[in-house]
Amino acid sequence: MDSRETDSHFTPIDHPVRVAIVGLGHVYELNVRAFLDNADVEIIALVDPSIERQHQRQADWPSAKTFASVELLASSGLEVDAVEVLVPWTLHEEVVTACLANGWHVNLQKPFALDLASASRMTDAALRQNRQLRIMENYLFYEPLVKLKEVVDSGELGEISGYHMKMVASGRGGWDVPGSSYDWRFEQAWLGRGTLFFDDGWHKLSTALWLFGPVEEVRAWIGDTEIIPGVSVDAPTTVSWEHTNGVHGVWDITLAVDMYLRSDYYTNDERWEVTGRRGFARVNRCTARGLQQPSLEVYRDGEMRSFHALDDDWGDSFRDSGQHWINYLRTGKGPRLWGPEEATEVLRFALAAYESSAQQGIGVNPRETKG
Ligand SMILES: NC(=O)c1ccc[n+]([C@@H]2O[C@H](COP(=O)([O-])OP(=O)(O)OC[C@H]3O[C@@H](n4cnc5c(N)ncnc54)[C@H](O)[C@@H]3O)[C@@H](O)[C@H]2O)c1
Repeated sequence: MDSRETDSHFTPIDHPVRVAIVGLGHVYELNVRAFLDNADVEIIALVDPSIERQHQRQADWPSAKTFASVELLASSGLEVDAVEVLVPWTLHEEVVTACLANGWHVNLQKPFALDLASASRMTDAALRQNRQLRIMENYLFYEPLVKLKEVVDSGELGEISGYHMKMVASGRGGWDVPGSSYDWRFEQAWLGRGTLFFDDGWHKLSTALWLFGPVEEVRAWIGDTEIIPGVSVDAPTTVSWEHTNGVHGVWDITLAVDMYLRSDYYTNDERWEVTGRRGFARVNRCTARGLQQPSLEVYRDGEMRSFHALDDDWGDSFRDSGQHWINYLRTGKGPRLWGPEEATEVLRFALAAYESSAQQGIGVNPRETKG
């Protein structure tokens, strides 16, 4: 991890955290779960250039003031403790540095940054302003994955040999996502930061680092498929890697445009399977309700143990992640899950995969990526 220590000490906030939400688009609906009925939070401002979005979201927080930009919020004199930044990630640096410069703590959606230079500038800005910058990772709060980590760490599977992550992007089912939420993502895809590997895939790379620590070498084949004229997605994709502790990981992304998947959210069939010398553990689903089996199963010595009562509603991982952040600000007790150092490691992992893919799958060490 980055040697710069940014999980620094700060004075905990001794009153309900005054939060401004910046970006009122689709993911707002999930992030606000942390704030509803939460006495430790006061939503005081809503920021978005879209008047329509301002009106729509103000129905949730009638006493919050609305603004078209961070600059207008700053000049209003309203006292803000922290901002929830939910803007297209192409704007992260611009919005994050403006918020930090106003002395606000920042909780940011992923992906952290497009390249290492941008990540470094945001990290430095947080240090300079002595404010907390968190890059939220809701997957680390999805209960079946939390339990998977507990099982792995307990040693009951024996020494871990390897693991597999699977992601199938299906084209049918799930909630309605406005076209505007995809426009900027597809533009980024043209610039080499695809919707499946870089945007959604950020979470899978995060879980790999969270479960097994730093990565030494990455080999990747990042594909490209035109789904409608002029719009491409980055599949089929296969990435494999070796962690410093010797554990090997493999992740494949497959496109299944005509497959229907039942989902309250995005239609994505995801699985994690960890194999040890003695047994294996498998998380059967996450964002969508693909496999109707217990969300976690653990096999050992000829017996399968099934977990039927875990909270497997993916949306609740946003609630728990956000409450963790608010609690962190109120008490000063970490870890942040995550800070800029860990998010930069995720970025390095992704950039190493891009470098490998561009060079016919050669091994690339994320620490040596130039990106
Ligand atoms: N954790 C997850 O699983 C997850 C899921 C979906 C989206 N996200 C992330 O959330 C972020 C937003 O995604 P989305 O799907 O809600 O996008 P969206 O396009 O639906 O919403 C973005 C909103 O930001 C507003 N906006 C644009 N520029 C702004 C500015 N300068 N100041 C304030 N508001 C501005 C837009 O008007 C829009 O309402 C992205 O970083 C995305 O990667 C994360």
